[in-house]
Amino acid sequence: MLILGLESSCDETAAAIVSDDRRIFAHRLAGQEAAHRPYGGVVPEIAARAHVEMLGPLVAATLDEAGMTLAQVDAIAATAGPGLIGGVMVGLVTGKALAHAAGKPLIAVNHLEGHALSPRLVDPDLGFPYLLLLVSGGHCQLLLVAGVGRYRRLATTIDDAVGEAFDKTAKILGLGFPGGPAVERAAAAGDAMRVPLPRPLLGSDEPHFSFAGLKSAVVRAHDSGRWTVGDIAASFQAAAIDCLVDRTDRALRRIDPPAALVLAGGVAANRAVRLAFERLAAAQAMRFVAPPVWLCTDNAAMIGWAGVERFAAGLTDPLDVAARPRWPLDPSAEAVRGAGVKA
Ligand SMILES: Nc1ncnc2c1ncn2[C@@H]1O[C@H](COP(=O)(O)OP(=O)(O)OP(=O)(O)O)[C@@H](O)[C@H]1O
Ligand SMILES: [Mg+2]
Repeated sequence: MLILGLESSCDETAAAIVSDDRRIFAHRLAGQEAAHRPYGGVVPEIAARAHVEMLGPLVAATLDEAGMTLAQVDAIAATAGPGLIGGVMVGLVTGKALAHAAGKPLIAVNHLEGHALSPRLVDPDLGFPYLLLLVSGGHCQLLLVAGVGRYRRLATTIDDAVGEAFDKTAKILGLGFPGGPAVERAAAAGDAMRVPLPRPLLGSDEPHFSFAGLKSAVVRAHDSGRWTVGDIAASFQAAAIDCLVDRTDRALRRIDPPAALVLAGGVAANRAVRLAFERLAAAQAMRFVAPPVWLCTDNAAMIGWAGVERFAAGLTDPLDVAARPRWPLDPSAEAVRGAGVKA
């Protein structure tokens, strides 16, 4: 089974061809960092226009690289949300047009399901269920992944996503955009023990995450002029990781722990985060699985793979399926207190 995957929900335009036997025949990605850098963040209108310009040629290049024609793929999987609605619409409409023209089924993929299932693309031994910490630019959630389309949300953030906290910290410290990798680099030259920073909700009975207070503390630490950028970055990263580990540990104490602890989403690219969770998994006698770094941040291979999993389960979508700016993986999860709740 061969699936063409398309991704356009944020600032990466991407296309990939993946198979059910976990081969990635081609994957292409066109970033837009330079276009957004002057604004210090992703500008939705600029992103949507860039997707319009880039997606067509990118699909052609991906098919070329794989040495295939559209006629050879079995279905087309496109991100249908959640994300910046202009970009999502570009990718989904492109997917619909290709599906219609080639007479192939369409699979409307939840971008978060792409992240959530991506570890199974690289690890054939990763079976359901697993505990997933999904840490990205827009989300910070603990999910029990019971199967394709079967997610139970155990925790989410009551304010900022952890990737957002990395990005804002980078902005405060003048480290530029995109922020996560810049903070990680700066942290490597700093002392994580030096700057006293809060760990919101650490040890709390409440299951959720919170990062807004940590971000405010970074602002104050920076304004005080007492610390170096490296020390603040290192101390921030350590505080964020303590929060992630504490909340995951809390969740594990309340469920029958599954065999594997899995990280996915852009923040899973962070080496210190990966190391901390490798340790937590080892302490719980669980397997630790995280996709390779390139598969953590947005890409189309994970969308193609979610397409493989959905197609194998007989799940396809009509050509009038709608793009969804919000699309929770666990629709039954309660709304949480606090502002800025995403999905
Ligand atoms: N090395 C790193 N350390 C920390 N954070 C990182 C690192 N690399 C990337 N990130 C963060 O990951 C986020 C991007 O991840 P991803 O592309 O999965 O998010 P998104 O697609 O914007 O959001 P979502 O998937 O929730 O819609 C950014 O916030 C970025 O700062
Ligand atoms: Mg993403």
